[in-house]
Amino acid sequence: MLQQLQWDASYHVGLAEIDDDHLRLVGLLNGLIAGLNEQASVERIAGLLNELVNYTAWHFRHEERLMQSYRYPEFIAHKRQHTQLIEEATSCQSRWQSEGLPVVQTVVELLKGWLLNHVLIVDKMLAEYLAERI
Ligand SMILES: [Fe+2]
Ligand SMILES: [Fe+2]
Repeated sequence: MLQQLQWDASYHVGLAEIDDDHLRLVGLLNGLIAGLNEQASVERIAGLLNELVNYTAWHFRHEERLMQSYRYPEFIAHKRQHTQLIEEATSCQSRWQSEGLPVVQTVVELLKGWLLNHVLIVDKMLAEYLAERI
């Protein structure tokens, strides 16, 4: 059984539009974890995974638009982290149909760890910068 992600106030970055995205992201990730734990159909898992990857890409573009609009000095380094994660997630996405569920479990563990780390460090730094300017 995969553990769902426990989201609490310590993960809030303090900027509502980013916190709202993160909450939705965690909801989608937990939905996928629930689907895996319930051994949902292949079609259902594929749908949940697709939705999660698409939303993650959308959220990254959202942060990147904010960084550009407000001339965030750490834009390149922050964006690089986003790009790496999307590349890993999409490669897992294309492999899982042939290699099966362990690949999805890997991507879930990757996203869980990555998300917490990224939100706690780089997204918080960004939110602090934006909070003084928005
Ligand atoms: Fe970010
Ligand atoms: Fe984020």
